[in-house]
Parts: sequence; C-alpha cells; structure tokens
Amino acid sequence: MRFDILTLFPDMFPGYLGQSLLNKAIQKGIVDVQVHDLRMWTKGTHRKVDDRPYGGGPGMIIMVEPVVDAVEAIQKLDDTPAQVVMTTPQGTRLNQKLVEDLAVQQRFLLLCGRYEGFDQRVIDVLKPLEISIGDYILNGGEVASMVMVDTLVRMVPGVLGHEESSIQDSFSRGNRMLEYPQYTRPRDYRGLPVPEILLSGNHPEIEKWRAAQSLLRTQQRRADLLDEKDNSGQ
Ligand code: ADE
Repeated sequence: MRFDILTLFPDMFPGYLGQSLLNKAIQKGIVDVQVHDLRMWTKGTHRKVDDRPYGGGPGMIIMVEPVVDAVEAIQKLDDTPAQVVMTTPQGTRLNQKLVEDLAVQQRFLLLCGRYEGFDQRVIDVLKPLEISIGDYILNGGEVASMVMVDTLVRMVPGVLGHEESSIQDSFSRGNRMLEYPQYTRPRDYRGLPVPEILLSGNHPEIEKWRAAQSLLRTQQRRADLLDEKDNSGQ
C-alpha cells in the first residue's frame, strides 16, 4: 500500500513514520509513505499557498492552483492511480467499515488542510473522498492523515503479527463489541486482585467470562454498537 501525503508541515511526519509497526512495514517494503511539501508547487518568491476569502471573513484559504498542480504531479509518480482523500471536518465520518472498504485500494493521496480550509474548486476539480475522523476540530489535517495511514496499514497483509490480527479487533467486520478487560502481573496491585477466573486455567470458562465482559462493556458504554441499524457508524 502506498501513501502520498500533501502537507504544509512535512516535518510533522518523520517521528510518526519512524516508529513501531509502521516503521517495520516500511522497512519490509509492504508499505510506502511519501510526504510532499505543498510549498514546492507554489509560484513566485513568496511561496504563497493561501489567501483571504472572497466575501470576507476570518482566516486564510488554501489556494486551488498549488494543490491541483501538486496532485497532478504526484499522481504521475506511480503507475497505480491514487484514491485522493481530503481530511476535513466536513467529510464522511471514518469508522472501521469505511477503513475496510478503503483498504482494498493500493494507493492513497492524502490532502491535509490547514487554516480555514481549501478553495472549493480543489474539491470540484479533484473530487477527493472527504473524510472526518470525528466531530471535533483539529488544527489541521495532518493528524487526521496519520490516523488514516495508521488504521489502513493494519489491513495490509504482513503488517500485523497474527497474534495481533485485525480480525479480532473491536469494530472489525462481524465484531461490534468492545474489548474485555485484560490483566498481567502482578496478581495483586494496591488491593486490586486479578479476577480469579483468569488464574484458573479453565479456558472454556475464561472465554465465557471474556464474552460476558465484552457484552457488558458494550451495553454500558456503546449500546449503539449493538443496534444493527447503527453498524454503518453514520
Ligand atoms: N481537520 C480538522 N479537523 C478534522 C477532523 N475532525 N477530521 C479530519 N480532518 C480534520
């Protein structure tokens, strides 16, 4: 899976990309992430990427020309056309089903917004998939793009070890339950013991206890997940 990320803040990415599972997947060559600085596609000495909104109002708007020029150039860097994604609070809310549907694609070009957003003609020309990671406002689309990369790579065969298989995750297809509580050593911490059943070695009973805990948590915290109609997450 390949990601091209177009951003005004490319320095935000190396720390994240250099860590953990993602770094291993990049080293193995099963995931490729290329970060591109939008300022590379600006014209003139001022490297201007944004301007004031027509009609007035606060903030600055990212201009259409550098974004479209950048996307057209980046698309040519690989034979596989990229699904263009814009991270924006105006987008479709991301959930696990959408992640799984998207993960059949091989290549993504992520547009990270800043300021008051993009000129509408960026959307009219490029027709990106507009995605929000939740009903709150971030300072920009960079963190949302990292979230997209982070969750999509979990779907790439070979990225997770099988004990971490994404199939078992809460919210994976066919699993709409929250996780049961987990414990490790010590057996007792500040008077809080590990539940006796987990020390019993009785695996069928442990499985039953875990299933019951999952259901209880889901009922208490996210009853909407148990409602079939809500499983699209929208
Ligand atoms: N940019 C700013 N807020 C965002 C959000 N909630 N999701 C995606 N992109 C964003």
